[in-house]
Formats: sequence, structure tokens, C-alpha cells
Amino acid sequence: MDLAIETTKLRKEFGFFKKLVAVDSLDLNIEKGSIHGFIGPNGAGKTTTIKMLTGAISLTKGKARIFGRKAGTTAAKALIGYCPERPSFYDMGALDFLIYNAEICGLSFKEAKLKAEELLKWMGLEKFRDKKANQFSAGMKQKLGLIQALIHNPEILILDEPTANLDPMGRFDVLERIRLLARKQNKTVLISSHILGELEKIVDHVTIINKGKTIIQSDVPSLKKKFASNRFIVDTVNNIKYLKDISTWASVEKIWINAERKIEIVVKNSNKFKVTLFSKFKGKEIEINEFYPLRISLENIFLNVIGGVEDDK
Ligand SMILES: Nc1ncnc2c1ncn2[C@@H]1O[C@H](COP(=O)(O)OP(=O)(O)OP(=O)(O)O)[C@@H](O)[C@H]1O
Ligand SMILES: [Mg+2]
Repeated sequence: MDLAIETTKLRKEFGFFKKLVAVDSLDLNIEKGSIHGFIGPNGAGKTTTIKMLTGAISLTKGKARIFGRKAGTTAAKALIGYCPERPSFYDMGALDFLIYNAEICGLSFKEAKLKAEELLKWMGLEKFRDKKANQFSAGMKQKLGLIQALIHNPEILILDEPTANLDPMGRFDVLERIRLLARKQNKTVLISSHILGELEKIVDHVTIINKGKTIIQSDVPSLKKKFASNRFIVDTVNNIKYLKDISTWASVEKIWINAERKIEIVVKNSNKFKVTLFSKFKGKEIEINEFYPLRISLENIFLNVIGGVEDDK
């Protein structure tokens, strides 16, 4: 397996007297050519990790490698196109700004202009080429930030919430462009986002982190298989009452009321669980509105792993 990004026990501490551990023993393995979703709640350590990978900040402990090169070195940086959470620009026209960036990356003026024009067109920003980049709207800045990340044709794209400021159409459009680009040119993409429904449409792998630690790292099909097999939703007229009852059944491993106010259950043995449920249902002990295996989306998995409020049994 060819690894584009590899971290081992990566750690970042902020502060001197009062230390804050933002990233703690984080292991990341991003395969070449994959589109890898990097998700976690606010403050989980995504941006801090990304900044260490791009060399924007130093790491406290551990290792981070970009195609085998130490993160932060010129050789590693040359392989990365990075679009930060909030891209900022100089007081220059968009086209001039992109040409300037491309020239820094070693392109001749002619090559730089061609590439900048091509990318502005690709992103639908060509009519704003002479507008001051720092006067762009937040969404336009994000699109321009993405172009800036691509200007030197990098092997790896690292995108920190690249669609956060975009309208729904813009989000779909930008994600689809990223997906096509990555697939056609076999680029590796590490993309963080909170909009999981949309992220799910393009990623093939995900890493979920919380409090600076990796919680799950998997390809998407295996992850879905793992989570879907033994999870059910039971919607009853009196959630709280039945939650207590169901929680006593031998086949039930975990149970809670989910974000949709339905009973969500992880079972040890789904056949046994179904038998018990239907026998109780037949005897009218429980009035069920709906019962189905959990439709497992990335968002559902995330809520299960991070946000599932478990009932105290
Ligand atoms: N420069 C800094 N100095 C001190 N603490 C910091 C600094 N940057 C980040 N942190 C802290 O590190 C932790 C992780 O922050 P980080 O920005 O990496 O989270 P995140 O996962 O990107 O969150 P979000 O989804 O909100 O963007 C937070 O507790 C944050 O307050
Ligand atoms: Mg962040």
C-alpha cells in the first residue's frame, strides 16, 4: 500500500505553563489516490493536525510523513496543495495573486498565467479575475483558496472545510469538481467537513477523531457494514417507557434515544432481538410505529460514535 500521508503517535501541545493537548497520539494512514474524509466535532483537532501535515505549525511529538518525506520540509510541502479554513489573500487582483503564487512554486510567468486562467475558468471565477481577492465574498474566497491550492498541480490536496461558506449549489459543485479531479488525475485528497451528508458523496475512506485521538479509521463500505448489521430503530408512542423495557432484554447491547427522538439499539444478536420484539409486539405490550435496521449514513455513524447519548442502565 502506497501511503500519501502517514502519522505515528502525532501530538500537539499548545501553551507553556498550562498545556492544552490538541492532538494526542494520532495515527493516520492515507492511501495514495484515496479521497479521505477527516471528521470530528468542533475542537477535535482536525485543523491542528492539518497544519502539522502542511508544515504551518510544528509538531510536539511523533512522526508525520508525506510520501515518506518529513512533514514541513520543502520536499514534503511541494507535494501538498492546502486550502485553509479561512483563506486570506493579499491586496491584489485574483489573477495576479494566482500568477504570483504559481511563480513562487517555480512556474514561468507564461505557464503561471495559463494555469491561473485555466483554473479560474474551471471554478467559474473568470469574470472576477481582476477583482481584488481580499474583497471577494466568503464563498468566492473559498473557491479562490481551492484554486490557489491547485496552482502547482500537487499530488495531495488538503482541504480544511472547503465548502463551509458555500451555498448548497456551490457546495455540490465544488465537491463534485474535487471528486472528478481526484479520480481523473489519481490525486490524494484529505478533506475535513461538518457537512457529512455531502462529504459522504465523495469520500472512500474516513477518519473520525475526537479530543485529538483517532476513534475510527476505515474505508466507507467496511464501516457501513460494521455499523449497519446490528443496529435498529424502534419508534414507539412512548419512547422513554419502552426504552426502559427494551433495555432489559438479553439481546440488547446499547440503547438510547437518538437525535430524531427514536429509540436506537445496538443488539448482540439481531435474530434474537427480532424474535423478542415481535413476541412483545404481538402481545400488544409495545406499540410500534416503525421498526427497521438503521439506515446507516456517515452522519448516523458519526452521531453513534461521538454523539450517541446512552441511557444509564
Ligand atoms: N494556536 C492555538 N493556541 C492554543 N490552542 C489552540 C490553538 N489552535 C487550536 N487550539 C485548540 O486546540 C484544540 C483543537 O482545535 P482545532 O482547531 O484543531 O479543532 P478542529 O477539529 O479543527 O475544530 P473545528 O471543527 O471547530 O474547526 C481546541 O481546543 C483549540 O482551542
Ligand atoms: Mg477546524
